[in-house]
Amino acid sequence: MATMVSEETGAPVHMDVEDGIAIIRLDQPGKPVNVISADLVTAMDDILRRLEEGEADASVRAAVILSEKKGTWIAGADIEQFKEFRTPADAEAASRAGQRLLDRLENLRVPVVAAIDGVALGGGLEVALACTYRIASDSPKTRLGLPEVNLGIVPGAGGTQRLPRLIGVRAALDLMLTGKQLDGRRARGAGIVDEVVPVAILPAVARQVANDLAEGRKEPRGAARRRSPQWMENLPGMRQLIFSKARQGVMSKTKGLYPAPLRLLEVVEKGLDRDLAEGLELEARAFGELAVTPEARSLVHLFFATTAAKNDPALGETAKPKKVDRIAVVGAGFMGAGIAAASAESGIRVRLKDVKPEAAAKGLKTARDTLIKRAKRKKARGFEITALTDRVEATTEYTGFHSADVVVEAVFEDVSLKQTVIRDVEAKIGAGTVLGSNTSTIPISTLAEAASRPENVIGLHFFSPVEKMPLLEIITHPGTAGWVTATSHAFGKQIGKTPIIVNDAPGFYANRILSPYMAEAALLLEEGVRMEEIDAAMTGWGYPVGPITLYDEVGLDVAQKAGKILAAAFADRMRPSSVLDRMVADGRQGRKNGRGFFTYDEDGKKGTPDESVYAVIGSPAAKTLPRAEIQERLGLMMVNEALRTLEEGVLRSARDGDVGAVLGIGFPPFRGGPFWYVDQTGAAAVLERMRALEARHGPRFAPAALLVERAASGERFFPDES
Ligand code: 3HC
Repeated sequence: MATMVSEETGAPVHMDVEDGIAIIRLDQPGKPVNVISADLVTAMDDILRRLEEGEADASVRAAVILSEKKGTWIAGADIEQFKEFRTPADAEAASRAGQRLLDRLENLRVPVVAAIDGVALGGGLEVALACTYRIASDSPKTRLGLPEVNLGIVPGAGGTQRLPRLIGVRAALDLMLTGKQLDGRRARGAGIVDEVVPVAILPAVARQVANDLAEGRKEPRGAARRRSPQWMENLPGMRQLIFSKARQGVMSKTKGLYPAPLRLLEVVEKGLDRDLAEGLELEARAFGELAVTPEARSLVHLFFATTAAKNDPALGETAKPKKVDRIAVVGAGFMGAGIAAASAESGIRVRLKDVKPEAAAKGLKTARDTLIKRAKRKKARGFEITALTDRVEATTEYTGFHSADVVVEAVFEDVSLKQTVIRDVEAKIGAGTVLGSNTSTIPISTLAEAASRPENVIGLHFFSPVEKMPLLEIITHPGTAGWVTATSHAFGKQIGKTPIIVNDAPGFYANRILSPYMAEAALLLEEGVRMEEIDAAMTGWGYPVGPITLYDEVGLDVAQKAGKILAAAFADRMRPSSVLDRMVADGRQGRKNGRGFFTYDEDGKKGTPDESVYAVIGSPAAKTLPRAEIQERLGLMMVNEALRTLEEGVLRSARDGDVGAVLGIGFPPFRGGPFWYVDQTGAAAVLERMRALEARHGPRFAPAALLVERAASGERFFPDES
């Protein structure tokens, strides 16, 4: 007969005891995911105490930890609570409390099995690491990882110490430095979990394993690994080599602008030479110090800004989204193929159309190659890859368009061509299909004019390469129907993008703020500053690539065209530079034709800055400017333009502005986005710098009215977060 000890409902943790196995169920009331918040810690503390003292049931021989939340085991520490940390001591104390709890879990008198279905991230994985045995489900929702560096911190509940001891230094560093998340199968391959089983049998297998561990019939694989640590890593000099390579990698990726990964290396390296308790001391101190840095605060701000953009509650009020199972894409070029691949990867069936069979076939191959590459990286099996690639079909006709829920046109950037495509598509689709345009510059209202159902037309601006870039900029014109916006937003989310919704205006948001920044870089070239100095200044400010490299990547002809459209709209401050005209006239289009600001070899590999450029653009390349001056001119130019878009109502919120700038154009994440940057620097200080730039370089640096207003009022864009 089973012994049952049931708990009252409403608590975040419940424990039932069945046949000597304690089943601990996590389910935080009122929260979409389980997080390690104060209430969960208190409840776990109580349960551990009862198990330690044998109070719940002296016959308990083993325990299993399960989650009742679909899609989540534990999503980590409660990031909301990070905002309460005022001093390093506050954060250090929180880390120590977590460590102590997990120490007790690890040393419990009975074995504990983590039965993981859904995400086990950060503190969630740290809980699992303190268990005796880990079983993951094979659900695609099951993902394990330590993404703390993405929040500017290090794991603070034992992860920096337990993971390297379990799976080896190199593999653990790879996970912790990238924040990479592994599904169950890959986690087993890495040695993080002991078994992977189908979701349906997870609880039963976990119970069985708990019983076997209690009876001494089974030993965790992790325990076996701990006794024979990765022998290669213990060879003389090997460990130093691993850490020095990792440090080099971090420096080249972050330019030393992010303290967390460097501190992580230090904590792991020192911790390995000490016992666990001493390692945990180092970890808690690092966690405490990092959690209150400006970098961590900016990254936490971005986490919530991004989540809020994804879950935009304002949308629910407009209309319900339609379900998206099938889409059609017109234009099988690089963007069209990318949109097709990103959609297919998320389970959507795609018709990819181009005029010529060769173009359609090429697009199909590009989409399928992308899918195969990404699936192989995730170690997908052959039949899974076939199922993925089969979702994309190519066509030269509009066949199959009638059943599409969304059509995206991604043809050449030309108004009349796009309008023709819109008319043609409309004739083939019903009134319930969203008609999206992937234009980056043409006003959506101009495209909607061509449509007989303009309310179905919307801008779906993807960024290149589509499969990697996380932003989807959705542009509504005044007549766009609510359900069209809601469906576009849901579609973006479904394919893993973070959508922001902006109003129709030249350049929308992302290109609007990028344009004066790029134009300023071209002006610096005209003034005689060297290409590599401009790029180095901006990567040194935190951009992933400098503007000169970006020109080559985007295509000089494309940048020239976009620049002219924006210059026409904002003539007072975005005059097109002669640099681009001269480069394009010289036949230079950037990476795509192997001739740009940089040299390219036969395989298209980027070389050094091309010295002949200076003659082409008629610049002496003889001026040296302090790096800070270049950074200020370019950085503040973008920040100021972002504020203008909010004041004009292009943006709906400062939050969207931060998300769009960081995810769409690489604004440095540790600066939190242009609006967060103004809050942190102080509007008055930014205004002072803008006034100085205006006095020196002219009216293109005239401060946005919103900046002037915020400087006077002291009001912040994010009053609740600062
Ligand atoms: N803390 C607080 N809130 C969290 C959270 C967390 N760790 N994880 C998710 N949430 C909230 C989101 O803000 C969102 O709130 P909302 O409903 O008010 O908008 C809600 O949960 C649902 O989240 P998503 O919309 O993002 O849901 P998804 O299903 O798309 O994704 C997820 C779920 C994969 C868990 C994703 O939210 C995520 O990646 N969360 C963060 C995971 C993370 O970084 N964990 C590490 C935390 S740091 C840590 O653990 C420190 C430790 O070492 C001590």
